[in-house]
Formats: sequence, structure tokens, C-alpha cells
Amino acid sequence: MRPLLAANWKMNPPTLDQAVELALRVAPVARRARARVEVALLPPFVWLESVAGVLRDDEIGVGAQDCHWERSGAYTGEVSAAMLSGWCQWVICGHSERRGYFGETDEQVARKVRAGLDAGLNVILCVGEREEEMVAGRTEAVVTHQLGAALEGLAADLGRVVVAYEPVWAIGTGRNADPERAGATMALIRQMLVGWGAEEPRVLYGGSVNAGNATDYVGLSVCAGCLVGGASLKAEEFSTMIERVAELGGDGDRA
Ligand code: 13P
Repeated sequence: MRPLLAANWKMNPPTLDQAVELALRVAPVARRARARVEVALLPPFVWLESVAGVLRDDEIGVGAQDCHWERSGAYTGEVSAAMLSGWCQWVICGHSERRGYFGETDEQVARKVRAGLDAGLNVILCVGEREEEMVAGRTEAVVTHQLGAALEGLAADLGRVVVAYEPVWAIGTGRNADPERAGATMALIRQMLVGWGAEEPRVLYGGSVNAGNATDYVGLSVCAGCLVGGASLKAEEFSTMIERVAELGGDGDRA
């Protein structure tokens, strides 16, 4: 399966013109590499339509960064997974910034995952430990708990779930996780997914990924790609990343 590079733009860029320009600059590179790398751009909700318009007819994916679990209702400020389904193919659920800044619980994340799948979207579920949990040797326990809470019982739908392992301490800090250690956690995640019946589990790494280190992760047999934050906002850097990952080859012999 081709490795996936998913660009989580977070609350960026600040203007529509910049969002369109970024998509326009990345698109040709992603298009050239598409036999070997799958690329998805995940802009803020309000730029989804325009970014999808730039990419239309391309095999470049578009996604949202969050969704609500109800189809509709009195939830001021929210956007439902059902509403997103006409505009994009992907949705992120349970990003640590949602869990941390907005108090999202495991139960809410589970409902969002379910709603995303029911709406026909592919879900990128984020899991990962905070720094103090890593220091206390609790990485496995935290990740196992988050995964179980969000995915246990999904069975047949697991094929549309990609799990992104994002150690919270590595996000936006420039302190990317040691690939070997991240690989061990990703192997554990993979094993859990297989245990629940996933046939081709996809596990990404996220956290200070840049053009210089992306292949350190994608080169691991357990790693199916990266969820990229800051570096995905720099057209040149993200393009270089796509090209370097393409050179690794999406030749199907990864685990
Ligand atoms: P950075 O790549 O900026 O560390 O962000 C990672 C992330 O949170 C992607 O979802």
C-alpha cells in the first residue's frame, strides 16, 4: 500500500488566498508522486470547498480536522460528520489539541469515529502520550487505553481507520520521537488493530515531522506514513517530503 502523507493544517493559513495558494503549489508535486505516495490535505472547515476545488479530479485527498457525532442539532459552532461527507474523504478524530485544549473525552472521540465512519469518511484517529506519561513509562498503557476506547468493536469498519501515533511532547516542538521507539509503539498499535480484525492496518507517525526526517519513519515497515503539522504549511518543504517519500517506493512490501 502507498504511504500516506496527511497534512494537518490546523488553524492555518489565516486567509483563503493563502490556503488556495498552498494547495496549488503542493498539488502538482503530489500528482506527479501519486503512484508512490498518497497525499491528503486537511484544511480548516471553511477552506475545504476551495481546497477541494483546487484538487478536483486529482487523486489527492481532502479532509477535515474534527467532526461532531450527531447528524444535526443544537450544537452551536459544530460541524457534523454527515455534513462533511459531501466535501471530503477524511476526518481527523481525537487530535491531542482537541483532547487537551477542548477537553474531548475518550467517549466523545469514540462517538466521532463512529459518526465519521457512518458518514462514509475515512478516519484518522490520533493517539499518543503526554510528556509526563512518557517519562513515567506509561506510553503503552495510555496508547492502549485510547485505542481501545475509540476502536474496540468496530470490526468490519476498521479498514477505513488509520491510526496516527502522535506523542504529545513531539508535536510542534521540533523534538521528533526516536524512530525506533516510535516504531515499537506503532507495532503495538498495529498488533491491536490486527487483533480486532483489521486486515491491512495503517499506522502513521506524527510529531515534528519534516522533510529531513519523514523517511526515517516511513522507512520503518510498521509505518504507513505521517501526519504532518507545521511542515505541511510550507509548500516547498512539504513538496520535498512528498518527493523523498516517493523515492522510498510505495511498492507494497511494507507491513
Ligand atoms: P507538527 O508536525 O507541527 O509537530 O504537528 C503534528 C501534528 O499535530 C499533526 O497532527
